[in-house]
This record gives sequence, structure tokens and C-alpha cells, in this order.
Amino acid sequence: NEIKIFAPATIANVSCGFDVLGLCLDTVGDEMVIRKTNKKGITISKLVGQDLPLETKKNVAGVAGLAMLEKLNLDHGFEIEIYKKIKAGSGIGSSAASSAGTVWAINELLGKPFATKELVPFAMQGEKLASGTAHADNVAPALLGGFSLVRSYDPLDIIKIPTPSELYATVIHPQIEVKTSDSRSVLKQNITLKKSIIQIGNLGGLISGLYTSDYDLISRSLHDEIVEPLRAILIPGFNEVKQNAIKCGALGAGISGSGPSIFALSKGKEMAEKVAKTMSETYKNLNIDYDIHVSKIN
Ligand code: HSE
Repeated sequence: NEIKIFAPATIANVSCGFDVLGLCLDTVGDEMVIRKTNKKGITISKLVGQDLPLETKKNVAGVAGLAMLEKLNLDHGFEIEIYKKIKAGSGIGSSAASSAGTVWAINELLGKPFATKELVPFAMQGEKLASGTAHADNVAPALLGGFSLVRSYDPLDIIKIPTPSELYATVIHPQIEVKTSDSRSVLKQNITLKKSIIQIGNLGGLISGLYTSDYDLISRSLHDEIVEPLRAILIPGFNEVKQNAIKCGALGAGISGSGPSIFALSKGKEMAEKVAKTMSETYKNLNIDYDIHVSKIN
């Protein structure tokens, strides 16, 4: 009647896959406890680590859970405790972890009435509350693990993509908060044909590289022609951190989700840790406070 889960952080976009590609981190995330209660609906009984609303309809976990309960005819409800380790507005899917964690845990407690992919639309309702847009590129990998591609939003079509075994992520978080809604408002609604050709080529290359564990192809494809140039100005030291990570041996680097976290992908844990050191030194030299993680993608 009770379940304790790890709700993982995620990196959305992964450079060339704005709103359609995301990956799941193995070691960075929140803890949640979800239990059945006699009271119907969703109650957020505890929220530790972040200053976020407890009111069900104002909390992403509450909203995602309610969206799921609407499809079920239950005579009981659920109580949620959230122990946040992921900072809100850090760019590694804080809201997605809570939304996805909630619906995944409820599904488990009910004996899996839904397939995992079917939980994505419920978790997307949490994202809608958090950012104004029901994007799935954080919640899909949070639920399915590894890399997920949103092939289509309407109808929703989520594809799980294989992860090369030696691929590691390094994520550095400058200690500022960037709201996804703000970093979406700097984007243009139209792009040129020329830019879209470059982006499509890279996304195809990245997906192909992930399927074939072709690290050089992954490296050549980690480029964002459309979103990064507009958002980079919101992130202190972005160009230096990115360039130093690549110089150090990372396959590529870019903005994690809507920022301000910066991610790098590397072949092998050792390289990912070396890259972490370089990224940290860059921020130290710029006098920018940060926290940093190295994680397998899983
Ligand atoms: N794809 C979304 C964005 C992810 O970049 O706005 C937000 O975490």
C-alpha cells in the first residue's frame, strides 16, 4: 500500500532535439513516497527541500496524479511525500521528476492498469502547469529510462531509443533559476529552411549514432542550430563551459532542457569526470557558484 521511489532527473532537447528528445540520468533525482489513502483524490502531505505549493491543483505531482485518477474509478486516493533534490528551474526536469514519479508509483500500487508509455500524457499535465506547455521530452525519458524520442505530439507517439553502453552525462548547474516559461519566451516561432535542414540532419545523425553506438557520429551531431543561440545569453559562462568541455574531450555539450544547467556527453566515466573537472574549473575562474553531477544514462 506504500511505495518509495527514485524519481530521476532528465536532460531534455539534447542539443538538436528541441521538445522531442530527452535522456534519463541514473544517479540524480528526487525521492518520493506514495501511499494509498481512504480519502479520494491526491494529497501532498510533505514536501521537503524546495519551496513549492502543497495544494494539489497547484502542484505538478498533484495535477499529474489527478489526470490519471480521472481515467480510473477508484473509491480511494493517494498521499504523496516528495523529497526534492532537484532544484526547481535548474533545467534537469525538476517538475518532470515529480509528475512522472507520481503517475509511475500510482500505477505500480494499482497493479499496473496502464502500460508505462500510457502514463506519459498524465505526466505531461504536470509539465503544462509548470511551464505552460505540455512538452514530453522530460517526462517520457523519466518514465521509460534511457533516451526517448517524441516522434509526434498529436497523436502522441513516443519511441524508446537505445543508449550506447559507455555514454555518460556531465551536468553543471550555475546557481541561478531560469523558468522554462521565460526561456521559451525568447524563442522565435519561425525558422528558416536552411536552419531546419541543419537541425534535421543532426537529429537524424544523433539517433543513428545512438542505435549504432557510433560515438564519432554522436559527437558530430550534438549541435543546436535553432534554440541554443537564442537561449545561451541567459546562462552565465555558457560559451566558455561548452568550449572547455569539448576541448577536454567531451563528445559535445549544450543547454540542458531550458537551462541554466549545461550538459556534456562523454564516452566513458573517466572522461565524463575529467570533463566535470574542466567545467567546474571554468565556473571557479568566473566566480560562479555551481553544483555538478556525473551520471550514467539509464
Ligand atoms: N523542451 C523543453 C524546453 C524542455 O526546452 O523548453 C524544458 O525542460
